[in-house]
Amino acid sequence: MKVVFCEKFGTHKDLVVREIDPPSSPAAGEITVDVSVRSIQFSDIVRIQGNYQDNREPPFIMGGDGVGVVSAVGEGSQLAEGDIVLTGAGCVEQATVPETSVLPLPSGIDMAAASSFRAGYTTALHGLQLSRIQPGESLLVHGAAGGMGLAAVDIGKLMGARVIATASSDDKLAILSSLGADHMINYSDGFRDEVKSLTNGRGADVIFDPVGGDVFDESMRCIAPYGRVLIVGFTSGRPALAKTNHLLVKDAQLIGYTMGGLMRHDPKKHEINVATLLDWLAHGRISPYISHQFPMDDIVDAYDVLVGRKVVGKVVITN
Ligand SMILES: NC(=O)c1ccc[n+]([C@@H]2O[C@H](COP(=O)([O-])OP(=O)(O)OC[C@H]3O[C@@H](n4cnc5c(N)ncnc54)[C@H](OP(=O)(O)O)[C@@H]3O)[C@@H](O)[C@H]2O)c1
Repeated sequence: MKVVFCEKFGTHKDLVVREIDPPSSPAAGEITVDVSVRSIQFSDIVRIQGNYQDNREPPFIMGGDGVGVVSAVGEGSQLAEGDIVLTGAGCVEQATVPETSVLPLPSGIDMAAASSFRAGYTTALHGLQLSRIQPGESLLVHGAAGGMGLAAVDIGKLMGARVIATASSDDKLAILSSLGADHMINYSDGFRDEVKSLTNGRGADVIFDPVGGDVFDESMRCIAPYGRVLIVGFTSGRPALAKTNHLLVKDAQLIGYTMGGLMRHDPKKHEINVATLLDWLAHGRISPYISHQFPMDDIVDAYDVLVGRKVVGKVVITN
């Protein structure tokens, strides 16, 4: 079976696809999943560079959520052959994993959408909960066409926010508009004045920022009184230095958070959030968007479009 390996730290161009033996049959407490589709994300690039918070030493299988069909079960399993599950087994065609590590999915679910929703949507939901966003408040989402950003747009709309989405190209903004964002800004030439004008001079109540750097700096100049800024990530490559006097005069708050933190410190809350999102997904209340699909052999091309900022929503890898 095929597997995508990171065999040395470097760039995504160093990734290799290898044929390895299929996994062993499942023991008690395990299942084997035939993975049909999996998603990739920005944090993979950081991991390949060897700069991720919890670095793994190469060689390792590239990670990420995958969805597939249970093809064998260990003794006494609660799952059955044919069940559809979400697994974090990554870029593999088949995996034997502990039964407790997978998330059973409703039959009939869109497998590609299910493989692509967990990282972005759990991060966006947790962040928006921390921001205590209220219906009618303005939500400024940066990098809104990205995996995190688009999930924040989708959930922000569901929560009744007025969503202002930023992206670097008009093509991305057109898709964001079709997906329900209320206002679109091409932030290549700045965004402060437009945000101020869209909010009658107040600024944005909540700012969802996966980009950091200059974008963060400019956000600090269009926060509403009592505004909340969510520090999600640093795709710009630079964590910004917050000016605390700006926070003071705006009575504003910065909220840094990680999904890893929620999973470690409040796993019950994380579980409830995942169940809520699955319910929303099954009932069409959220709509993960996939702009690109590649077969596993073209894994380098798949990361090329991610690094080249061409993705809207997610990229998925098929067999
Ligand atoms: N806090 C958490 O728990 C958590 C969880 C998962 C991920 N993250 C972090 O969140 C960030 C976003 O992840 P993602 O999966 O949404 O990434 P993504 O799908 O690649 O989207 C990131 C967006 O950032 C924008 N961007 C701005 N400057 C960029 C640059 N120099 N290079 C690449 N993109 C740039 C791009 O939009 P434009 O081209 O339109 O500017 C892109 O759409 C990452 O830093 C990731 O590590 C945080």
